[in-house]
Amino acid sequence: MLAAADAATWRERDAELISPAYHRYSDLVVESAEGAHLHTVDGRDVLDFGCGIGVTNLGHRHPAVVAAVHAQVDRLWHTSVTAFHPQMIEAAAALVSVTPPSLDQVFLTNSGAEAIEGAMKLARRSTGRSEIIAFVGGFHGRTYGALSLTASKAAYRRGMGPLLPGVHHIRYPYCFRYCSHPSDEVCHLVEQELALLFATTTAPDTVAAIVVEPVQGEGGYVVPPAPFMPMLRRICDEHGILLVADEVQSGFGRTGKMFAVDHTLVEPDIMCLAKALGNGMPIAAMVAGHRVMSAFHEGEHGTTYGGNPVACAAAVAVIETMTRDHIPERADRLGRRVMERARAWQTDVPALADVRGLGLMIGLEFMQGGAPATRLVDRISTNALAHGLLVLSCGIDGNVIRLIPPLTIPEAELDAGLDILEAAIREEAA
Ligand SMILES: Cc1ncc(COP(=O)(O)O)c(C=O)c1O
Repeated sequence: MLAAADAATWRERDAELISPAYHRYSDLVVESAEGAHLHTVDGRDVLDFGCGIGVTNLGHRHPAVVAAVHAQVDRLWHTSVTAFHPQMIEAAAALVSVTPPSLDQVFLTNSGAEAIEGAMKLARRSTGRSEIIAFVGGFHGRTYGALSLTASKAAYRRGMGPLLPGVHHIRYPYCFRYCSHPSDEVCHLVEQELALLFATTTAPDTVAAIVVEPVQGEGGYVVPPAPFMPMLRRICDEHGILLVADEVQSGFGRTGKMFAVDHTLVEPDIMCLAKALGNGMPIAAMVAGHRVMSAFHEGEHGTTYGGNPVACAAAVAVIETMTRDHIPERADRLGRRVMERARAWQTDVPALADVRGLGLMIGLEFMQGGAPATRLVDRISTNALAHGLLVLSCGIDGNVIRLIPPLTIPEAELDAGLDILEAAIREEAA
C-alpha cells in the first residue's frame, strides 16, 4: 500500500500511474464523502453540486444504500450467468415498478455506455434495420457503438475512427442556440431535420432507432420544447422506428419526476439507465417491453458483471428510498427555487444569458460579446471551488455551468452553495 500523502503528492503519483485519458474537473483529492460533502486528504470540506456527474442523487453514502450493500457483501457477491440469483430479479422488479408501464423486461449492465450498446444491438436485431439516428450535442458514452452516437465534442472522436457505420446526427431542439423563432412559438427544427435526412440520406424504413436524451446532458443541459418527445414518438410509430430514451443522466428523480420522459407522457420502446441507479455502485440497465426484448435469444447478448448482487442490492435500496421519501417531488420543489434565484441574477449579470432546467438538472449558460463565455465559466468554477463549492461545466463550448446537487441536500446547504456560486458569478462576470 502507498504511504499517506498530501494532495500534491497523490496528484504526482496519479500522473505517473494513471492514464492521461481521464479529464478531471478539479484538483481535489477526495478521501471520504457524506451527503453533499466531499472531504479531501488535505482537510477540505467541499460542497458537491456535481454528484460524481449525476450519480449520487441520494447524497454520498446514503444510509439505506450503505446498509443494503453491507448486508449483501456478507451474503453473496458474484455469480455471473453460472446461476440465477434473487437480487437481480428484485432489482428488475424494482426497476419495472418505476419505469413507464410498457417497459417490463430488464438487461442489467455495469455502465451507461454498455446499456447504450445493448440498446443499439437490440434495436437492430428487433427491427432488422441498420440505421440509427442520434443528436448533435448528445453524449451516450465512449465505447465504439456509444461513441458513434456521441456528438458533444469532436475531441472524443478524434483519431478513433472509423466509428460504427449507419449512424446519422441531426440537431437537437436547442432553441437558445439554433432557433430565431419567438419562445412561445412551436419549434419545427427537428421535424425539418428528420424530413431532410429521410429525403436525402436514409429512408425512414431503413432506420432501426432514434436515440435521444429527453434532457440533453453533456451537450449543455438543454430542455427541449414540450412537443419534442411526442413528435418523435409519432414519427417513430409512423415508420416502425424504435424510440430509445437515454436517461442515464436525467433519470432517478433528477428532473423532478422519476424519469424525464414522465414529464412528456411518452413511453419509449427502450430506456437506458445508469448513474443514480446505484447511487455510486456500478450498475446500469436497458429496459424494454417483452415484444422488443424477445428479439434477443439465449446467449446472443451477455455480461460477466452486469447484475452483480451487491450492485443490485444498492439499486433496490435506491428505488425504494426514492419512492418512499418522495425524492423526485423534492427535486422539483428545490429546482424551482434554484431557478428562481438564478433567474434573478440575470437582471444585473448580462453574461448569464440563459437559465434552464427541469427539477435539479439546471444549466446556466454564459455568453459574452455574442460568443460562448468558456473562460468565464472556468473562472467562475475555480472561484467557487476556492470558496468550497464544486460545480461542473458542460455544453458543446464548455460555457454552461450545470447544477446537480444531491436531491437530498438540506435546504440550508443548498442555499450556502448558491451563495458561493452567486458571489463567484458576480466577482468574475463583473
Ligand atoms: C446521457 C448519458 N448517456 C450515457 C453515458 C455513459 O455512461 P457511462 O459513463 O456510465 O458509460 C453518460 C455519461 O455521462 C450520459 O450522461
